[in-house]
Amino acid sequence: MRISCLLLAFVACYTLAAPPQPARLGLCAACHGADGHARIPGVPNLAGQNEQYLLDALHAYKSGARDVAVMRTATGPLSDTEMQQLAHWYASLPACAPAKR
Ligand code: HEC
Repeated sequence: MRISCLLLAFVACYTLAAPPQPARLGLCAACHGADGHARIPGVPNLAGQNEQYLLDALHAYKSGARDVAVMRTATGPLSDTEMQQLAHWYASLPACAPAKR
């Protein structure tokens, strides 16, 4: 009983401190980075982007309205809830510094 109370308090604190990493983040990190800073040239940064925009983009890739093979594959197995979690995660991160020219 006591231990479960402690556990609950810990989980509550942890949840308030930082949003938990989405379960599916591993599907995206190789290209976009877990921190939303792209790892590969030609891949967009996602950190700090508008949450609704990110969610709309994910829906558009999944449906094929935005027809990009890599993103269609990446969004294929995702549920609506998982896409919301990913959009929320990336939107909540600090944006990248502008690229130097
Ligand atoms: C193989 C590399 C790769 C993986 C893996 C990948 N992406 Fe992408 N992503 C891209 C590329 C390339 C684009 C740009 C596509 C285009 O031109 O529309 C993109 C575009 C996006 C965009 C639109 C950004 C914008 O500014 O319009 C979002 C949102 C996004 N990805 C989220 C994700 C999420 C979430 C995952 C994991 C489920 C993921 N991506 C996995 C390569 C990848």
